[in-house]
Amino acid sequence: MGFDFSTLHDPALPQVVMPECPAAQKLRGQKALVTGGSSGIGKGVALGLAEAGADVVVNYHSGAEEGEAVAEAIRRSGVRAYAHGCDVSEEDQVEALFARMQEEFGRIDILVANAGMQKDAPFDEMTLAQWNAVIKVNLTGQFLCARAAVRAFKKRGVVPGVSSSAGKIICMSSVHDVIPWAGHVNYAASKGGISLMMKSIAQEVAPYRIRVNAICPGAIRTPINEEAWRTPEAYGELMKLVPYKRIGEAEDIARAAVWLASDDADYVTGLSLYVDGGMTLYPGFETGG
Ligand code: BGC
Repeated sequence: MGFDFSTLHDPALPQVVMPECPAAQKLRGQKALVTGGSSGIGKGVALGLAEAGADVVVNYHSGAEEGEAVAEAIRRSGVRAYAHGCDVSEEDQVEALFARMQEEFGRIDILVANAGMQKDAPFDEMTLAQWNAVIKVNLTGQFLCARAAVRAFKKRGVVPGVSSSAGKIICMSSVHDVIPWAGHVNYAASKGGISLMMKSIAQEVAPYRIRVNAICPGAIRTPINEEAWRTPEAYGELMKLVPYKRIGEAEDIARAAVWLASDDADYVTGLSLYVDGGMTLYPGFETGG
């Protein structure tokens, strides 16, 4: 940065040492885990963190081939990566995922708890199995991964020269942590749960210099919502909900994740960051209401 910001500090007050933020490679040398990193937003985030210099563990559930391909693409870019298959809703599998990362990379600095799914149904037809499956992966999965990450961060503390904080967690939420979603009650409930889980963890672990935030994507062009953007008709309908009048891309989320994980966001914790082209701005009122 060209400007010396220390000239703004009042020398009469206790001084805070601000983190250095070089222009690029803000995550150089950091070790990141992205759950659900084999496709969609998770894939974009895994590639984005790698581009910023992080070594990346690409977790996948069923897409082994896709997960390996993402890891391979990351390795070609010059940083370390491997793919690891596991179900984030199973405690023993999550423990094994973190144990292997400790063995292979020596530590974890960044967790992006991204793995998620939809199992949509009209409410009165929703089965308990559909409800449980979504809550287990989207909410319990994030709990298990965040808990394992916090344990590792607390044990180790701040590593000087790596990051100003002892660890960063980014929970992948959704605009549906505040926008009710008919026909998707299980999904909206899981995302609403993530919101207060994230903020409560953030409050609890801030004294340990651990930062916990959420990204709340709007409509992002990924396989999960293909029917909302595949045809021009569907895309036109979708745009009625997006004041910015374009669909989001996984890169939009990746950029937000890199920022939240980097020391540029060192004073940011407990934030729900909506990356949604204005979807949460009550677009129905665009024309006056
Ligand atoms: C859902 C997508 C949906 C978007 C906006 C996301 O959380 O996974 O299917 O298009 O929210 O409604």
